Amino acid sequence: MKLRLALLALAFVVSFAGQDASLLGAEPSASYLLPGNPLDGSRLFSEKGCLGCHSVYGVGGVAGPELGQGILKRPLLDIAGVMWNHSPGMVHLFQEMRTALPQFKPAEMASLLSFLYYLGSLDPPGDAAAGARLFREKQCQTCHSLGGKGGKHGPKLDSYGRYATPLYLTAGLWNHGKAMAGVMEAIRVPRPAFGKNDIADLLAYIRTTAGSVERVYVRPGNPQVGEKLFVQKRCAQCHRPNAQGTRIGPDLRTKLKGSLIGIAGAMWNHGPKMWAKMDNVPSLAPEEMSDLISYLYFLQFIDPTGNVARGRVVYQEKRCGGCHTLPGVSGTVGPDLASAEKLQTPVEVVTEMWNHVGTMERKMLEESVEWPVFKGGEMADLISYLLSVRKSSAAPADGKKSEPKEK
Ligand code: HEC
Ligand code: HEC
Ligand code: HEC
Ligand code: HEC
Repeated sequence: MKLRLALLALAFVVSFAGQDASLLGAEPSASYLLPGNPLDGSRLFSEKGCLGCHSVYGVGGVAGPELGQGILKRPLLDIAGVMWNHSPGMVHLFQEMRTALPQFKPAEMASLLSFLYYLGSLDPPGDAAAGARLFREKQCQTCHSLGGKGGKHGPKLDSYGRYATPLYLTAGLWNHGKAMAGVMEAIRVPRPAFGKNDIADLLAYIRTTAGSVERVYVRPGNPQVGEKLFVQKRCAQCHRPNAQGTRIGPDLRTKLKGSLIGIAGAMWNHGPKMWAKMDNVPSLAPEEMSDLISYLYFLQFIDPTGNVARGRVVYQEKRCGGCHTLPGVSGTVGPDLASAEKLQTPVEVVTEMWNHVGTMERKMLEESVEWPVFKGGEMADLISYLLSVRKSSAAPADGKKSEPKEK
């Protein structure tokens, strides 16, 4: 039951309060929380069959490229662009396998894209061998024991092996960090700093001593809850409530890059300076740590708005108007994009483009139109243009257009 395992491994997102998918691309270049629900997205990724052909860090099918290695590290609509660019290849494989291309509802597409976006920065699973080295080099074993072997200045760490996610270890490190730093100073062990995936590697090692060799990915928590905790736990006293900087603490929106484990490491590394400024260090339960880190992680979600003028050029260059009607440019092969009903938001446009990809590809072959390939930013630009034309053509001045109603 390989797929079953894969399913489990991918079901790592705990819970995200769903947000309105129509937010997608609606805000100006702000950073805010992810618009879809990555948990639903991870479920759809297997239900719609993607996992049958694609793997994430080696878990999953092999007919399509691996999607876990940061290739999706780009804005959401660019991810949609990448999917589109590769869709003829996928369509042909589906045909060979005699299965229908999966269709999406807009909310599903938003969640799928959110999940793919999350994959773009997903930390690789911890590596137990690297963790064993770190445990020695960082002198954890001078003070801690595992399986009865090691020092006695600190508690045994075996119980951490029960936990699947490094965020438990992160919480333990944070909550005991100040006391640990004291003992380190007393017996002259330098305080270790954590880089890259160190905490995940350490946990992977601890887990092997507890008899578990199963590889586990980091599960992000709930960023909406994390946003509240950030204020409740008084982080916002030195960083602003929206994680902007103050005179005391740095701007976390720009400082924290890339990865959940990296953020956990940054918190640890800067611990002493923070603790020095805190009357008492707020203790964080593992779930809280997980939610906080997820919040800080998804602060990086940037959804650049498209540019209408550039979008018009993209529309012409990609020859969409050869088949589709818009005011001023009228093709006849494809539907009228100004009046088609389900194209009210960026995510709806992306969804319908995907849902119709099979027919479009056939028509393009018939009409000898080369498959349009989107470069970075072009999908967002094109969509901005489409939506702006729809808006203006819905205005009463234009008599021939169908009613501007949304349902
Ligand atoms: C039948 C096998 C198959 C299925 C199912 C499938 N894909 Fe693909 N996918 C491929 C192949 C093959 C490619 C490479 C196509 C090409 O480059 O021409 C690809 C490419 C991609 C790419 C571009 C990757 C890159 O290298 O940049 C993305 C993103 C993607 N698929 C996402 C998905 C999603 C999301 C689903 C589920 C809705 C899915 N795929 C379902 C076979 C599949
Ligand atoms: C100089 C000794 C020392 C070193 C080196 C040290 N620790 Fe600790 N550690 C302690 C002490 C003492 C405590 C208990 C602190 C307290 O009382 O809150 C502790 C607590 C912990 C806890 C919380 C344990 C619990 O009961 O929940 C974890 C997790 C931990 N250390 C991990 C590590 C890791 C991983 C390393 C190596 C990177 C490390 N420690 C290095 C002394 C040390
Ligand atoms: C009393 C003030 C204060 C409080 C409260 C505080 N911080 Fe900080 N924080 C700082 C300072 C100062 C730094 C920079 C420390 C340094 O340069 O080593 C920092 C750095 C950080 C960093 C590392 C940023 C980087 O540059 O890599 C993270 C992450 C962080 N804080 C998260 C938090 C979280 C989460 C909370 C709440 C649990 C919190 N902070 C509470 C003052 C504070
Ligand atoms: C060779 C002709 C052709 C070209 C070029 C073409 N399309 Fe299409 N398009 C079609 C056809 C035909 C359909 C209807 C497919 C169906 O019914 O399944 C369609 C459907 C669509 C839909 C769904 C409309 C609805 O009713 O929901 C969207 C959105 C779309 N195309 C966007 C584009 C964009 C953007 C471009 C340029 C990148 C483009 N198309 C290029 C032929 C084309």
